[in-house]
Amino acid sequence: MTLANDTKSVNAPGLGAASAIPRTAVLEARNRVVQVRRFGGPDGLEVVDAPLPTAGRGEVRVRVLASGVEYTDVVIRRHLYPQTMHRQPPFVLGYDVVGEIDQLGDGVSGFQLGDRVADMTVLGSNAAYRTLRSDCLTRVPAGVDSAEAAALTFSWTTAYQLLHRAARVRRGQRVLVQGAAGAVGQALLVLGRLAGLELWGTARGSHAALIRELGATPIDYQREDFTRVVPGGFDVVFDGIGKDGYGRSFTALKRGGLLCVYGYTARVQPQRRPLTILMWLARQYLQSLWKWLAGGKRARLYSINVMRARHPAWFREDLERLFGLLATRAIRPRVAERISFDEVAEAHRRLEAGGLEGKLVLCPDLSSRRDRAPPQREPGPTSVQATPAT
Ligand SMILES: NC(=O)c1ccc[n+]([C@@H]2O[C@H](COP(=O)([O-])OP(=O)(O)OC[C@H]3O[C@@H](n4cnc5c(N)ncnc54)[C@H](OP(=O)(O)O)[C@@H]3O)[C@@H](O)[C@H]2O)c1
Repeated sequence: MTLANDTKSVNAPGLGAASAIPRTAVLEARNRVVQVRRFGGPDGLEVVDAPLPTAGRGEVRVRVLASGVEYTDVVIRRHLYPQTMHRQPPFVLGYDVVGEIDQLGDGVSGFQLGDRVADMTVLGSNAAYRTLRSDCLTRVPAGVDSAEAAALTFSWTTAYQLLHRAARVRRGQRVLVQGAAGAVGQALLVLGRLAGLELWGTARGSHAALIRELGATPIDYQREDFTRVVPGGFDVVFDGIGKDGYGRSFTALKRGGLLCVYGYTARVQPQRRPLTILMWLARQYLQSLWKWLAGGKRARLYSINVMRARHPAWFREDLERLFGLLATRAIRPRVAERISFDEVAEAHRRLEAGGLEGKLVLCPDLSSRRDRAPPQREPGPTSVQATPAT
C-alpha cells in the first residue's frame, strides 16, 4: 500500500489529471512510470511513482502487461524526434502498449474488464497503468504472449505498412533492407519472405546467421558495398538508417526502383540539435525529388503516425492481421529480453550500442533484476534450477 505523499505528480498524455483521482484510489494502488527528466543521455531517465490515472469519458484504463523499449524512444529522449519536439520534460516514454482493462470510463461499449488490448501511443506507455481511448484499441487474441504482441504493435506494423501500404511490393521483387537485424528490419525480412520477395539485408558481420535464418542474403555493412551486390539494382530499398544521407541506397536501386525512407539512426548523435535534424530531413527530401526527376527512380518518406492520421482504419486492420499471424505461429517476433522498470535506462544504453538480436520489452509485473538473480548454488549433490528471466 502506498501513501499519497509517496507519489510525485507527472505530466504525460493518458496518465490522467491528479486532481480527478479520489484520495482512496491513491491510497489503494499506485502507478509507476519511466520519465524523461531532461533531454540527452540515458541518465536523464527516472522511474517515479505517479498518481493512478482515471479513465475519462470514452476511455479505458489498462494495467500494462508489456510495452516496448524502442530505438525511437532514444530519438525522443535525445530531443531529435519531430513529432514530440514540442514536449518539454518531464514526460513519460512508451511507444506501444499491451494491457488488461481494469477500469471503464463513461460511454465505453464493446469492452469489458479483463479484456486484453493493444495500442500505439507514441508516449506514456512505459508505465504500470495508463488510460487509452477506447476507439483506438485493438484486441489481443487469447493465448498470444503479451511481450510478443507489444513487439508487433509498433515495429511490425511499421514493417507491414512499409511493404504493403507504402511500397506495395509484388512477389519476386528484389528488395534490400538496411538495418536488417533491427526490430523493423527483422519484421521486414519475415513479412517480405511471406510476400514472396527475394531479400538482402545489411547488418554487422556477426548477425549474418540471423539474417540468413530470416530468409535473406546478409551484407556486412562494415565490409561490403551493397550498391554492387545485385547487378542492375534493387526494385525496392527500405532505409531506416540514413547513412550518407540515403544517397547510396538511392544508387543501389534499378531504374524505376523505389526508396522507402523511414528513419535516420545514423544521424542520432549527442551533439545534434532539433533544428539541424529538421533541416537535414527537409534537404534529403528535396534532394530525393531531384534525383527522381534526374534518374527515373522514386523515393517515399514513410511515417506510421502520418499514415495512421490519414487512414485510421488501416492501423487496426494491419495490427489485427499481424495478431492473427502470431496466433497461428506463422510469425514469431524475437524478444531479446523482458525487463523490469529498473532496467529501462540500461536498455536505452544497449539500444544505442547496437548488436541486439531482438526487442527489449518492459513488463511492469516483472521484479527487478536483482530480485530475479538465480539463487547461490549450495554445495551438495543436487543442482539448483536458475529462475528464468522471462
Ligand atoms: N517512420 C516510422 O514510422 C518509423 C517506425 C519505426 C521505426 N522508425 C525508425 O527506424 C529506425 C530503425 O528502427 P528499429 O526499431 O528497427 O531500430 P533498431 O532495432 O535499433 O535497429 C536498427 C538496426 O540498424 C543497424 N545499423 C546501424 N547502423 C547501420 C548501418 N550503417 N548499416 C546497416 N545497419 C545498421 C543496427 O545494427 P547493429 O546492431 O548491427 O549496429 C540495428 O540492428 C530508427 O531510426 C527508428 O526511429 C521509424
